[in-house]
Amino acid sequence: MAETTYDLVIIGGGPGGYNAAIRAGQLGLKAACVEGRGTLGGTCLNVGCMPSKALLHASELYAAAQGEFATLGIDVSPKLNLPQMMKQKAESVAQLTKGVEFLFKKNKVDWIKGWGRIGGTGKVEVKAEDGSTTTLEAKNIVIATGSEPAPLPGVEVDQQRIVDSTGALSLPEVPKHLVVIGAGVIGLELGSVWKRLGAKVTVVEFLDRITPGLDNELAKTLQRTLTKQGFEFRLGMKVTGAQAGKKSVTLSMEPVAGGAADELEADYVLLAIGRRPYTKDLGLESVGIETDKRGFIAADHWKTSAPGVWAIGDVTLGPMLAHKAEEEAVACIETIAGKAGHVNYGIIPGVIYTAPEVASVGKTEEELKAEGRAYRAGKFPFTANSRAKINHETEGFVKVLADAATDEVLGVHMIGPAVSEMIGEYCVAMEFRAASEDVARTCHPHPTRSEALRQAAMGVEGWTMQA
Ligand code: FAD
Ligand code: NAI
Repeated sequence: MAETTYDLVIIGGGPGGYNAAIRAGQLGLKAACVEGRGTLGGTCLNVGCMPSKALLHASELYAAAQGEFATLGIDVSPKLNLPQMMKQKAESVAQLTKGVEFLFKKNKVDWIKGWGRIGGTGKVEVKAEDGSTTTLEAKNIVIATGSEPAPLPGVEVDQQRIVDSTGALSLPEVPKHLVVIGAGVIGLELGSVWKRLGAKVTVVEFLDRITPGLDNELAKTLQRTLTKQGFEFRLGMKVTGAQAGKKSVTLSMEPVAGGAADELEADYVLLAIGRRPYTKDLGLESVGIETDKRGFIAADHWKTSAPGVWAIGDVTLGPMLAHKAEEEAVACIETIAGKAGHVNYGIIPGVIYTAPEVASVGKTEEELKAEGRAYRAGKFPFTANSRAKINHETEGFVKVLADAATDEVLGVHMIGPAVSEMIGEYCVAMEFRAASEDVARTCHPHPTRSEALRQAAMGVEGWTMQA
């Protein structure tokens, strides 16, 4: 008979759930992870971070082969093989989800296949695909059920003509005209994929700016760059409905500030206006857990209001990011195991994988101004970085914000080549509460784009040099 008593049962097998399960196994806790999707890895591995990055990588090379290669003296005539591009994406995703399965086995975590529901204190009922139900008993339950795309009344996602991010990762053809609703991370990343593959892309955004929450200077630079690439932005527009036909969609909208209504014709519409926590049929009421009005589960150091029930990842407040879920997973399990779990919520980086990439960590200038905190800024453009210059990728800059009195680095915002790979340097610096001078006086290899990080720090004290 299958074992049904555990130290810990985790509901959800995404970055929150699977990292929690693996850490529990490593610490010698008897752990089970309940996941109803056919594969482990959650949104991130199956229909989020990983497939989107696979398509971003492939489409960026395709676009380079069409343009930049010729500048470098490489003449090619690329031809798009969309089925192969999708196949390699699916293969990479399968390898990754299998990798999590392997780690479960290695760390003696049981994957209980099915949908979990809390059935009172210390109980999780799991409904398998064949309809059978098992009850698991556990001292601790961790909710890691993640999130789902937010709906928009009047715009019904059919995954044919009107798609969400999952549909947009698997379109059967390159749209002639893709209209994206929402100028956030998903809209700009997946819009970039299809733009590079040949679609006309129009982004309709409710606000009068793109990427709310991002440092204003970065957002403006990103919008200018994407516009140069051919993106069209309709800012300050409220979508009032979408009518899908067999081969096209008519999108109606009106200016938020008032004025004449307008329509857009597209062959595909991507709805990407945010995500909402997923707690459907979770049995929260059986242990007295309430969600806030947006559906999030409140948790204090990952502890919910119900004894022995914990919550991590997208289903709780904070940035909906895989690495935030991972951090919380480890800290939550270490706390359950009697150790000192810790997450530094002030140092969770955010990246937008457009070209150029955008990467941020810590406070924005707008936040520092609102707090009335005195700061100094150092900025360095990639046009002055020798490696970026020889690579013909000079768009963007690095900006470092440091406390005016102590020089502690408070925020770093960059747009440019490979910044997703470089932001980690400032995360480490900030974890050690480095001053901008610490970075400015650290030797960086030449010629690398990372010198721009140092030069921006030097800029805080005004001694930036040309690379
Ligand atoms: P999820 O990954 O959503 O996992 C939750 C899992 O729980 C799911 O597999 C679900 O099937 C399962 N589940 C739910 N209810 C039950 C139940 N009752 N019983 C059993 N199982 C259940 N973040 C980044 O940091 N970087 C990126 O580049 C990035 N790109 C993204 C691109 C896209 C297109 C999308 C949609 C998201 C992206 N994200 C990215 C966000 C990232 O995917 C999420 O922040 C992350 O997956 C959250 O992890 P989680 O474990 O909280 O939830
Ligand atoms: P988002 O919150 O990034 O952006 C949504 C955008 O839609 C905002 O600009 C918002 O103002 C706009 N909007 C909201 N309602 C609207 C309406 N009715 N009409 C028009 N515009 C409207 O959400 P998105 O892009 O859906 O992504 C969801 C989550 O997934 C994000 O929280 C993000 O953290 C995560 N994600 C992270 C990625 C990364 O780390 N690179 C990549 C993709 C997703």
